[in-house]
Amino acid sequence: MKTAIYPGSFDPVTYGHIDIIKRAAGLFDKIIVAVLDNPSKSPLFSVDERVTMLKEVTAEITNVEVDSFSGLLIDYAKQKNVDVAIRGLRAVTDFDYELHMAQTNALISEGRLETVFLTTDLAYSFLCSSTVREIASFNGDVSQCVPECVRDAMSVKFGYK
Ligand code: PNS
Repeated sequence: MKTAIYPGSFDPVTYGHIDIIKRAAGLFDKIIVAVLDNPSKSPLFSVDERVTMLKEVTAEITNVEVDSFSGLLIDYAKQKNVDVAIRGLRAVTDFDYELHMAQTNALISEGRLETVFLTTDLAYSFLCSSTVREIASFNGDVSQCVPECVRDAMSVKFGYK
């Protein structure tokens, strides 16, 4: 059984992430969507809130599990006995960061963690969580970007509900 980890901040999960999760779930037997618990960042949503939202929006994809991790991705992958990480590539602007991360992970895992890139669907190539947060903070319309449960949660966070 081939399992892959899809790691990220998911603050919050967008339709772009969901598209990658669905496509990765078609390529692997199991996908572990892993939310990074990073104490040096101040996210909009807590790890638990992000995990809950991810579980809700992936509920119908049977081979997806949602989890969280802290520390190095390679250590989490080893603990889960997984040797593939999935990342989405939206545009050339993502490339430097993603290449750096993939090569660093390959180096520090001594080649044990492979990164597989899925190119983001054109419809979502503009989408990123930080823009979604900014629009929602001004009560703008993010219905094209995130599912209803995420919109509701952001409305509550920003005091519009
Ligand atoms: O959604 P993001 O913020 O682009 O995801 C980045 C993430 C979580 C995949 C990356 O920051 C990560 O794996 N962090 C864990 C720490 C780590 O392993 N660092 C070394 C690799 S550069």
